[in-house]
Amino acid sequence: MKAIEEYVRSIPDFPEPGIIFRDVTSILQDAEGLHLAIDLMQEKLKDVEFDVVVGPESRGFIFGVPIAYNLHKPFIPIRKKGKLPCETVSVEYELEYGTATIEMHKDAIKPGQRVVIIDDLIATGGTNEAMVKLIEGLGGKVVKTVFLMELAGLNGRDRLEGYDVDAVITYPGK
Ligand code: PRP
Ligand code: MG
Repeated sequence: MKAIEEYVRSIPDFPEPGIIFRDVTSILQDAEGLHLAIDLMQEKLKDVEFDVVVGPESRGFIFGVPIAYNLHKPFIPIRKKGKLPCETVSVEYELEYGTATIEMHKDAIKPGQRVVIIDDLIATGGTNEAMVKLIEGLGGKVVKTVFLMELAGLNGRDRLEGYDVDAVITYPGK
């Protein structure tokens, strides 16, 4: 059996010089890779009690929904600005390249609910920090975040001190 790392295609100098892009499409386009990624992420939740899965557009949807489905939990999408039709809460944050605003429906999380965040990658940690703000703003408690990949050289975990952050694959660099 191939290790999960072997399914990840790495593209040097994309989208800019010095960055190695870790491509999830090469995992997804292989049935074994897709199964392995979901199974290994889900494994990180085996001892976690929680109520809902939250995942950000767009790559967070890919991994968040199958995990929520398998564990029979609801899935709450966090979307990029202007996409959600009902009353939203929003937060602006800095990305690895530029800034962005993300939104969530105001009624998506009830006070006291235990939330797991799922995403493909932690780079600077900005997206995750912004998601935590949205969730906590609605009274939710973030009990764990699971990433498929972590770029440890960008120190994203520093922005998430005190939170339970886990990754299946950790790359030492950027
Ligand atoms: C990428 C990635 C993570 C985030 C990580 O998403 O999927 O969500 O960046 O970076 P950070 O830790 O520095 O915040 P992106 O916003 O590029 O959008 P996408 O998922 O729609 O591709
Ligand atoms: Mg993303």
